[in-house]
Amino acid sequence: MSKMSKKVKSAIYLQQYENVFACPICQSDVHIDNLSRMICDNHHAFDIAKQGYINLMNKPLTTNYHKQLFLARQQVLTETTLYQSVIQAIIKIIEQSVSKEHLTILDMGCGEGSHLVQICRGLSKSSVGIGIDISKEAIATATNHEDSMIWSVADIAQVPLKEHQADVVLNFLSPSNYAEFDRMMHEDGIIIKVVPNKDYLREIRDLLFQHTERENYSNQAVIDRFREKYRIMTQQTIRDVHEIDQVTLDTLIQMTPLTWSASPAQLERLTHSNMKQLTIDLDILIGKRYV
Ligand SMILES: C[S@@+](CC[C@H](N)C(=O)[O-])C[C@H]1O[C@@H](n2cnc3c(N)ncnc32)[C@H](O)[C@@H]1O
Ligand SMILES: [Zn+2]
Repeated sequence: MSKMSKKVKSAIYLQQYENVFACPICQSDVHIDNLSRMICDNHHAFDIAKQGYINLMNKPLTTNYHKQLFLARQQVLTETTLYQSVIQAIIKIIEQSVSKEHLTILDMGCGEGSHLVQICRGLSKSSVGIGIDISKEAIATATNHEDSMIWSVADIAQVPLKEHQADVVLNFLSPSNYAEFDRMMHEDGIIIKVVPNKDYLREIRDLLFQHTERENYSNQAVIDRFREKYRIMTQQTIRDVHEIDQVTLDTLIQMTPLTWSASPAQLERLTHSNMKQLTIDLDILIGKRYV
């Protein structure tokens, strides 16, 4: 028997969850047609890409994020332990806070998908992971993961899903749209937002931005806004200093938006800095809706 194509495999998986989706144009019900596209009751159709993701954007959009950044991010997130403490903490939070047996986890701004994959793998409960990102390059890169997941190009400001489907809304170092997050969350659901803390990638920040206003960063405004919207159940800070090698440093330089505004001379300095340590300092905010 010939090996099933990635597209057909994804279509079969997507079919199991087609009732979760709504047409991004007219919001009506959708179904998977001929294991090749998603189509709504009003005949708006969206092809499943050969890599197995589905593009549910109304109109094409370009972003500042490019393929190389997502490949670098995927390499760092899958081959180093830099983010393992935060992933393990999130798995524990989900296990303790959500009692359902089968979970729908929606990652808003999932990038290249490693966090969502690692969280779903680590859970003792069964789950479906739905990763949404506005960048086609991000979502195409996410399909490198072999796990059964739903990857969709879509805008977090206009999510092509029906209401209250998500037991967990994850928002990891990505922009937020709280109106849409509320619409997505199941009434007992939780939102997990991961934000940089003041020492996140401190060593890179020091080298690039010393003596400028970007040298220091505070996440207080983001936390205040989150607190206005959600009842914070817990807040955890994960701060680790990691040993890094030159390969990891080179890859990190490609993966972080921090380096976008750096001059060639600054990048050169960073590359040859012989940096041996890197601080990961993240706050995890866990919220529920106010009732
Ligand atoms: C810094 S990256 C973080 C990605 C991933 N969560 C991670 O931690 O590796 C921010 C991501 O947000 C996505 N993004 C920005 N605006 C978005 C929007 N309106 N809708 C969906 N995704 C968006 C970007 O394409 C990018 O992948
Ligand atoms: Zn439609």
